[in-house]
Amino acid sequence: MSRKSYTDLDPERIPRHIAVIMDGNGRWASRKGLPRLEGHRRGYKALKNFVINAADFGVKAITAYAFSSENWKRPPEEVKGLMKLIRFAAKAELNYMKKKGVRIITSGRFHELPKELQDQFNQDFDETKNNERIILNIAVNYGGRNEIVDASKKIAEMIAEGKAKADNIDEKLLSSLMYHPELPDPDLLIRTAGEMRVSNFLLWETAYSELFVTETLWPDFSKDDLYEAIKSFQGRTRKFGKVVEESGKQK
Ligand code: FPP
Repeated sequence: MSRKSYTDLDPERIPRHIAVIMDGNGRWASRKGLPRLEGHRRGYKALKNFVINAADFGVKAITAYAFSSENWKRPPEEVKGLMKLIRFAAKAELNYMKKKGVRIITSGRFHELPKELQDQFNQDFDETKNNERIILNIAVNYGGRNEIVDASKKIAEMIAEGKAKADNIDEKLLSSLMYHPELPDPDLLIRTAGEMRVSNFLLWETAYSELFVTETLWPDFSKDDLYEAIKSFQGRTRKFGKVVEESGKQK
């Protein structure tokens, strides 16, 4: 149940793309005396609500950090459980996401994922490809440094094939070689559970993102929390390295 009417948000300044580090599932579970995987299960439900709430606010894309390239180092049982949960969710929520106008895509080293998960995601991509209300980009086996390494390899290949020259390498070229160049850079990066770290998430794309860190643990993240994050975003003056007067006018 929401407590607010949310009417004081400026419809002209809704973040187009929100990136989210869904932290605190383990802490949520241990505080309740439950297994860590129960925290992740509740985290998946929270993500489902988050996407629909974001769409209601007018957000056009979400990138959610579901499994990092470093998460393989967690205990094997947790890794197995997370992979199983992500596959379950990708199957169980497909019809719901189709109905709600959500397009599903992923970021990360896809070919390293278990084959059954790749198959399920491929079905999700295909069956939601015409949805336009909001994009849900699930970062799975994702690492920001890996993404830059993968883009660098593509540039090396282009040079070897005579399709690029060292002199022509610029930000525009690198941006075009990231996993989803069609997405605008995130306007807002939300991290839950109070941690003040970027944790190898979207290193290239978040260069000018506004940060919002909340103490709320991810499974408890509600529509009110999302409203607070957007409200805080709307109170910021985005400078992109320029000088901006108090009025918000650029010099
Ligand atoms: C971080 O919390 C959370 C993760 C590494 C997993 C995120 C996964 C989900 C929210 C669920 C599955 C996602 C989809 C797409 C269905 P943590 O375990 O590090 O928490 P802690 O710091 O409290 O231990």
